[in-house]
Amino acid sequence: MSKKSDFGLIGLAVMGQNLVLNVESRGFQVSVYNRTTATTDEFLAKHPSKKLVGAKTLEEFVQSLATPRKIQIMVKAGAPVDAVIEQLIPLLDQDDIIIDGGNSLYTDTERRDAYLAGKGLRFIGAGVSGGEEGARKGPSIMPGGPPSTWEVMKPIFESIAAKVDGEPCVIHIGPGGAGHYVKMIHNGIEYGDMQLICEAYNIFKHAGFSTDEMAGIFNEWNDGDLQSYLIQITGKALEQKDPETGQPIVELIVDKAGQKGTGQWTLLNAAENAVVISTINAAVEARILSSQKKQRVAASKELQGPTAGSAGILAGLSKAGLVKKVHDALYASKIISYAQGLDLIKTMGEKKDWGLDLGRIAAIWRGGCIIRAKFLNRITDAYRSNPSLVNLMLDPFFKELLNITQQNWREVVSIASLNGIPCPAFSASLGYYDSYRAARLPANLLQAQRDFFGAHTYERIDKPEGQFFHTEWPEVIG
Ligand code: 6PG
Repeated sequence: MSKKSDFGLIGLAVMGQNLVLNVESRGFQVSVYNRTTATTDEFLAKHPSKKLVGAKTLEEFVQSLATPRKIQIMVKAGAPVDAVIEQLIPLLDQDDIIIDGGNSLYTDTERRDAYLAGKGLRFIGAGVSGGEEGARKGPSIMPGGPPSTWEVMKPIFESIAAKVDGEPCVIHIGPGGAGHYVKMIHNGIEYGDMQLICEAYNIFKHAGFSTDEMAGIFNEWNDGDLQSYLIQITGKALEQKDPETGQPIVELIVDKAGQKGTGQWTLLNAAENAVVISTINAAVEARILSSQKKQRVAASKELQGPTAGSAGILAGLSKAGLVKKVHDALYASKIISYAQGLDLIKTMGEKKDWGLDLGRIAAIWRGGCIIRAKFLNRITDAYRSNPSLVNLMLDPFFKELLNITQQNWREVVSIASLNGIPCPAFSASLGYYDSYRAARLPANLLQAQRDFFGAHTYERIDKPEGQFFHTEWPEVIG
């Protein structure tokens, strides 16, 4: 093929391969390179009729691309990204564009952006969500970098992205690391959603529901307010039987959650910015505790829970009654989780002066990505009608929903607590809601304690703000 390619992709793992097929399917010619040539050969052999150019060396790959070159790297986040960039630099021309489409840490993206700009090259750090299927059919894309570089990439990104109501699920998020940052929070929210679903499942399981019954509940929920990709796949996963034993496959899977780091990065960033993301926090910590399986099994023989015969999950409650209550607890907690994640994005966006638009960010999460959900339409509307919304919970629609669901939410947290069923994300969400809406918290006593032992001073409710006082507290002996 003598024509130069419109786009190049390095890294033919699952996401890379599917993205290539997606770009090609929109009419672009794509060059591909993989460190192991056999992978490239196999990929090309599988797709003989497509407009693909396979390169055996990076030099050949770079030469096969039309300028300014648009090269997307789909390799493991961290050192491999730097290694590929270093190999590319001597081969590229001024203004060529490198796009990192992996789950890179946004500070790495900022560093690479500055480094490559210094070399006259252009860089885009783009979060890409949607897994294998999203990559192939249309992901949600969160690109960060200079607006002028975005303009060059826009036609390709918009054509490959998922579409909702005709709008592509991609916008220019902001400069530098803004795209990867927003993808990181997307993943934090993804962790929250997944944990909340797991807590609902766990309550049903303890209440004696069969796996098929639970599949039915999630399938039904997917036709209502909770409609989302993660609820949908949960129903399907619960339905799935193991071919070997005929058992539901979910019940045969070891209860140790993996994680690659984006959730933990989100927690660290929230702590640095003093933003509360307790639901996401609970979700990350739940994965950590789950992975400590040996300790848990040992502790299960030592540490007591509620004695048999206490509350009883279904005491005085029909199965349908419990399902409705858990539905509401999940819905309310989900609102809290998004309120927290969006608060973090807002705080960080202001600190970095990224000019983030929360309404447009919510809009590109409506399709393609793992957290795609019907209720993102409502979040989009909330920020479109009030771009300076202080907290999602205060939007009239969500305020009312939290009000309607709160009784069931509280009951689920207490039923779980009385029966010794862990529901850290449900209860962290409720704790946030009750703390946020409290005009007075017990921090007055905390201030007294601080002043007592360290003369840290306090403000008084009966004196103007900004005046600080100290009390001579009695001496404590011993
Ligand atoms: C996505 C996913 C994707 C990946 C997660 C999984 O948006 O498509 O978030 O990026 O599946 O990184 O993360 P864990 O391995 O940490 O669960």
